[in-house]
Amino acid sequence: MNRAGIVIVGGGQAGFQVAASLREAGFADPVTIVGEETALPYQRPPLSKAYLAGKADADSLSLRPESYLAEHRIALMAGRVATGIDRDARRLRLADGESLAYDHLVLATGSRNRPLPVPGADLDGVRQLRGLADADVLKAAIGTARRVAVVGAGFIGLEFAAVAAALGLDVTVVEAMARPMARAVSAEMGAFFRAAQEGFGVRFAFEAAVEAIEGADGRVTGLRLSGGEVLAADLVLVGIGVLPNQELAAGAGLAVGDGIRIDAMLATADPAISAVGDCARFPSPFAHGLSQDGSVRIESVQNAIDQGRCLAARLTGRPSPYAAVPWFWSDQGPYKLQMAGLAGPADPSVVRGTGEAFSVFRFRDGALSGVESVNRAADHMIARRLLAAGTPLTPAQAADPGFDLKALATART
Ligand code: NAI
Repeated sequence: MNRAGIVIVGGGQAGFQVAASLREAGFADPVTIVGEETALPYQRPPLSKAYLAGKADADSLSLRPESYLAEHRIALMAGRVATGIDRDARRLRLADGESLAYDHLVLATGSRNRPLPVPGADLDGVRQLRGLADADVLKAAIGTARRVAVVGAGFIGLEFAAVAAALGLDVTVVEAMARPMARAVSAEMGAFFRAAQEGFGVRFAFEAAVEAIEGADGRVTGLRLSGGEVLAADLVLVGIGVLPNQELAAGAGLAVGDGIRIDAMLATADPAISAVGDCARFPSPFAHGLSQDGSVRIESVQNAIDQGRCLAARLTGRPSPYAAVPWFWSDQGPYKLQMAGLAGPADPSVVRGTGEAFSVFRFRDGALSGVESVNRAADHMIARRLLAAGTPLTPAQAADPGFDLKALATART
């Protein structure tokens, strides 16, 4: 009997990794990626950094050259949209009426930008950044813009602000919370990056709400804040977080709730369907105490790659629960922020180091939950080891500059 093989919905970092790892593991049946975008699978991190700044070209973003796909018999159905799953027949329906049979279906559908629900959000000059096409439009726009307003002081907003300020644009960032990156980092690290961004010339409006985007002749002219203040802008970038693409799973009767629900093996309740990457909500040993059921959805390259590998291993006969240590980075101007673990907003902080080279160690229920570092790459690597091994570390040890963290990390692993 002909095998239908594995069909992967989504050609982003996670979907592509599943395909590549299946072949590396010797999987011999067909592997098909159905991807909405038309480009070869590519890396997203440079889109808000080197690519936007004109320091990397589109070819350098590809995860692999086109020849790799042919050599590894990975069929890429680019520019195709999946619209439904017939679980009984094990078929994936596409928007153009075609349907594909599968033995196993992988949902790697990613996430999409959260829209800003205010009048004027559809004016010309109001942009978001997610894919290569968005980055191309934005790159052209920063070439002619003078005054930029950024909505959201998260990773997209701040990386974009740093690039735009370096190009000499006038940049103001409007943020709903009281500090930058409040979802992801400590108050201490937020304060450092606030000062760093201000040093690049970026201005901030914190605890601010955008009431409307104003325009003339269909083009943006500014942002109106809830207090009535209007910030003049000829370009607006909205970076207010993402929503998981879970509709395909929900439509097929699979459990969803801020992400497609999967177990520690990355499986849905249907043994023929799994999910990986930004779209998936899974139980994590690092999420204990963060959410009611210990589940989490992680938007990062590391998570996409490691879940892709973990799933490919299971599908080729080497099952193990997903337990990779989460880690993440952000480049803003000359500063590289590195994070390991999953700290919650209320986790107490201990600072190690000073000035422009320090780490913030976070603790939850007395145990290390995460470490944020700037210009302390060694701390980041040590943190990943400590978290992976579950090595106990006390706040007092973390605070003591004489305490040998490296010895602790190597002794236990
Ligand atoms: P984010 O969640 O990092 O930040 C969104 C920010 O917008 C938050 O600070 C939030 O408080 C604020 N916000 C939400 N609603 C708002 C409103 N109505 N008005 C003003 N502020 C508001 O999401 P972001 O920056 O959009 O990034 C999108 C995705 O891309 C995330 O998954 C992120 O992790 C990823 N990313 C990762 C990067 C990296 O690896 N370094 C770089 C850029 C993006």
